[in-house]
Amino acid sequence: MSILVTGGAGFIGSHTCLELLNSNHQIIVLDNFSNSNMESLNRVKNLTSKEFKVYDVNLLDRESVDHVFRENHIEAVVHFAGLKAVGESVEKPNYYYQNNITGTLVLTEMMDKYNVRNLVFSSSATVYGVPEDVPIAEDFPLSATNPYGRTKLMIEEILKDLYVSSNDWSIAFLRYFNPIGAHESGLIGEDPKGIPNNLMPYITQVATGKLPELNVFGNDYSTPDGTGVRDYIHVVDLAKGHIKALEKVLSESGVEAYNLGTGQGYSVLELVAAFEKASGQKIPYKIAPRRPGDIAECYADPSKAERELGWKAEKSLEEMCLDSWRWQEGNPEGYLIKEVEIK
Ligand code: WQD
Repeated sequence: MSILVTGGAGFIGSHTCLELLNSNHQIIVLDNFSNSNMESLNRVKNLTSKEFKVYDVNLLDRESVDHVFRENHIEAVVHFAGLKAVGESVEKPNYYYQNNITGTLVLTEMMDKYNVRNLVFSSSATVYGVPEDVPIAEDFPLSATNPYGRTKLMIEEILKDLYVSSNDWSIAFLRYFNPIGAHESGLIGEDPKGIPNNLMPYITQVATGKLPELNVFGNDYSTPDGTGVRDYIHVVDLAKGHIKALEKVLSESGVEAYNLGTGQGYSVLELVAAFEKASGQKIPYKIAPRRPGDIAECYADPSKAERELGWKAEKSLEEMCLDSWRWQEGNPEGYLIKEVEIK
């Protein structure tokens, strides 16, 4: 099938492009490269020995998005394109609402215009807000505690309304827990701009010596060792979940949400210990104050995805740590290609 991947140059996007190509789909990538690098796609092409078109397009540019649909035979869309930094969304809510929501409205308008109604949407466990209990199931109450989370929640509601307006839409929301790791080749991986917000890229930059030590945000949570517990999932497992969700939306109409997590929570200190064991790198850290907005525990009940998509995360925490380290050790500056000094 011919699949449009928006945000395909990003961390999860590039890994999903790889799995789509490995599953013999054709892909077309649309990305505005505001938080990604063309190099990730060059490496996907090298890894698969396959070619595909890439459009440097912002979803807010209706004419260009229309052109992409007019110029290509698109049968389904996997929609990653969106801003995702919680803290930044609090500082710049309008930027987040414009980019994430208006961008999705333009995308679905063009999908409708060109009769493309199969969609896999990149949602997030952040739509569960502060969960009353764990593990978290898809029918738990939804709420958002920041503009980023609210954009994900609102987009889910918009897509549900699309299905009500026309039952030939087929939509899956994939609610990611905490994606980490990298493709086993070490050629593609997570490449955050500036100082990483998320735990694993921060750890790997401490491991390379780019950052001096890890700040552990609070050790007084009601968890076994007092530090935050999260459901870390290997990005390749996550990518494979998109392939399964795509198969589902291509086979039947409807709108469904699925948790993509392992169902196993690990604390910050457990992740640090696992990374040190897997990489052989010492990670110095100090206990710092809690980060505003953080919750104590968050991990998935992934049984619906297993039951309805035939998908289950397979990779271990050790593999997640090993693969994260291989990527960072081999790419200490991420995709930034150092200027070669010509003597
Ligand atoms: C994990 C744990 C921190 C950094 C975020 C977004 C969520 C989703 C995934 C997009 C927490 C602790 C972290 C550090 C630390 N993104 N930590 N020191 O907050 O669970 O989820 O990313 O969908 O929307 O909110 O992930 O990696 O930031 O934090 O101690 O330098 O690590 O307190 O317990 P989080 P995270």
